[in-house]
Amino acid sequence: MAAITIRPATAADLDTINEIYNHYVLHSTCTYQTEPETIEARQAWFANHGPPHPITIAEQSGHIVGWGSLSRFHARAAYGRTVENSVYVDPNHHRRGIGRALLADLIDRARQLGHHTIIAGIDAEQTPSVAIHAALGFEQVALLKEVGFKFDRWLHVIYMQKML
Ligand SMILES: CC(C)(COP(=O)(O)OP(=O)(O)OC[C@H]1O[C@@H](n2cnc3c(N)ncnc32)[C@H](O)[C@@H]1OP(=O)(O)O)[C@@H](O)C(=O)NCCC(=O)NCCS
Repeated sequence: MAAITIRPATAADLDTINEIYNHYVLHSTCTYQTEPETIEARQAWFANHGPPHPITIAEQSGHIVGWGSLSRFHARAAYGRTVENSVYVDPNHHRRGIGRALLADLIDRARQLGHHTIIAGIDAEQTPSVAIHAALGFEQVALLKEVGFKFDRWLHVIYMQKML
């Protein structure tokens, strides 16, 4: 299998980031967004991620096959060294180690940036997502019942956390 490389995202990647993400908006509960992200909103998101909160791209054979990010967990200042991670892999490239490479890299970057802990908020139905976080050392610390409503049903959210 061709090598997976991880690099910081640039503005030129935003269309592909959105294309991958919007597949999950429309077809899954792994994001609670219900309408596709616009390119304008994606550009604002990119502009708001400064150096402490990297956005990364996974490439294989010159193609973007996934992306990851670290975001502020909460706007209040005292949460400053707590980050929330996202990882989205092109659905045509699942189970080839891309998610693992992206998440392991985000954990390394978070440590190097001096963050203290990473939190992942995961829809409880998303077995692949729960499994990948557990595989990389995250532990479930909370279950919030029926906090989401999508596709005509109530959804539970699991919080998983890794101390760095
Ligand atoms: C979750 C997701 C990122 C996994 O990416 P991936 O590239 O397919 O995963 P990998 O091949 O790197 O798998 C790494 C580990 O995750 C777990 N895993 C991944 N997919 C799984 C599945 N369908 N069922 C069970 N475990 C799974 C396994 O532990 C796997 O290790 P293994 O292959 O040695 O068994 C991908 O399914 C995805 O993009 N899902 C939609 C978005 C999402 O839910 N993101 C996470 C929330 S931020």
